[in-house]
Amino acid sequence: MDKVLRCDQSPAWGALRAHFEHSGRQFDLRQAFASDASRFADWSMQAPEVFADLSKNRIDAQTLALLLQLARDCGLEAQRDAMLAGEAINLTEDRAVLHMALRAPAGQGLFSSEVQASLTAMLAFAESMRDKAAQGLISDVVHIGIGGSDLGPAMAVTALQSFAHPGLKLHFVSNVDGHDLAPVLAELDPARTIFVIASKTFTTQETLANALAARAWFLAGGMAEADVASHFVATSSNKTAAAAFGIATTFGFWDWVGGRYSLWSVIGLPIAIAIGADNFRALLAGAHAMDEHFVQAPLAQNLPVLLGLIDIWYRNFHGFTSRSVAPYHQGLKRLPAYLQQLEMESNGKGVDRAGQPLSYATSPVVWGEAGTNGQHAYFQMLHQGTDVIPVEFIAVKRTRHVPQVSGEFAERLADQHLKLLANCLSQSQALMQGKRVEEALLERAPTASTALDALTVARHRSFTGNRPSTTLVLDQLTPRSLGALIALYEHRVFVSGALWGINSFDQWGVELGKALCSGLLPRLSNGDLSGLDGSTAGLLGHLLA
Ligand code: F6P
Repeated sequence: MDKVLRCDQSPAWGALRAHFEHSGRQFDLRQAFASDASRFADWSMQAPEVFADLSKNRIDAQTLALLLQLARDCGLEAQRDAMLAGEAINLTEDRAVLHMALRAPAGQGLFSSEVQASLTAMLAFAESMRDKAAQGLISDVVHIGIGGSDLGPAMAVTALQSFAHPGLKLHFVSNVDGHDLAPVLAELDPARTIFVIASKTFTTQETLANALAARAWFLAGGMAEADVASHFVATSSNKTAAAAFGIATTFGFWDWVGGRYSLWSVIGLPIAIAIGADNFRALLAGAHAMDEHFVQAPLAQNLPVLLGLIDIWYRNFHGFTSRSVAPYHQGLKRLPAYLQQLEMESNGKGVDRAGQPLSYATSPVVWGEAGTNGQHAYFQMLHQGTDVIPVEFIAVKRTRHVPQVSGEFAERLADQHLKLLANCLSQSQALMQGKRVEEALLERAPTASTALDALTVARHRSFTGNRPSTTLVLDQLTPRSLGALIALYEHRVFVSGALWGINSFDQWGVELGKALCSGLLPRLSNGDLSGLDGSTAGLLGHLLA
């Protein structure tokens, strides 16, 4: 790939700054809608499986034109094509970044024959587990992994619960805290339990500790050493380490699959066990449809590109420090946690690709909770707090309850879905519209204050409004639409990372703590406090006392 500009080296960067000072800072969503009857039509679009309303964002045609110019200056398309072509764009680890190849149809994409062989073997194993469950031979699968080897599978299995095998329960254990593993195992019968040990490196402390504990529990439960081979499998790119650990069957993958991009690989085994081979293929197909959109659609009609550009506009010009994700579907309750790793581990970087410190902000804090629960917790701050936090609403048009329900129960659930959608729409409406003090003054306060005059109460009851949001809509939460949604987020993170000029595919920031942990661990047994900083020595002493 030819040398590309970093965002702040592009002429568009300065033009965006001037545009922000001139009109961007004061941009008012209410005025924008009042003066433009076609704003919704102009700023919404249908991408594969995902409809997006971008109209409640603080952008106008000029903002978009400059952001697109920035993308061109930074060689966004060339950077995307370099990823697709298998160039080692993860420079610090000298690795290609090819998660898109994992969901390409057979015969397409790089390494197609290896990818298809691996997929076929993994899906055959998943189907064999489902058959055993149907025969009553197994009942539970415990998936042990952390970070990218946990968040994607756990999120997807939760999201696709209504497609899951009714006779199999999937459990996800990640934390090194035994309070994660122990309660899960307490419910299980070792003879009917399968363990999947998922670790790309097969060196991760938490995963190995949980795997050893699970094995001890398995043997203590009356199973023989010889049974380990049929009850423990691994998914890893380090087959040697998995074998040394004593696991006979390992589904392998490649170093060009990043941990947080790995649910499409054999790391997706628990998803395949839960939803079956055909549905897993549909998940891949949905992601592939989004890949094609990302690769083929012109930048101005390319949803991941538009979302990534708005992210840059908010982070680097408006100075917004976080983005809240509010999926209005209980099945997507793990999506915010998944997106935290995807975005913050990818783009939480402070130097550019050449190692030069950056003078501008990168990844925002990404956080959230399923709607409507978040409304009764932190939405107060979103509506009236001093920070403006763009919110991303995700709505799902049609519900799918399994097992199917009927009668009054069904009617009530259908009504609850309407309530859910009404809540989703009203929150973004309220964030945008706000309420002026004069309007609040006209309302009869439900609880009249004796201590404060009416104007003061109205001030407390007013809302600044003009708070931006994006709404994404899925027709239904299916393997295909989930695949497209996740791929959309992956590419959007790529876009902002590419313009920031950072390496979105390494994660050195997690290493220092790991190394210090290894040094501290023996001190918890031998009590040695020598050479430590005052706080760490004090805390260690307190814990050991
Ligand atoms: O600690 C960060 C990390 O390296 C993530 O990037 C990764 O997803 C996770 O740990 C788990 O790593 P592994 O799959 O190698 O156990």
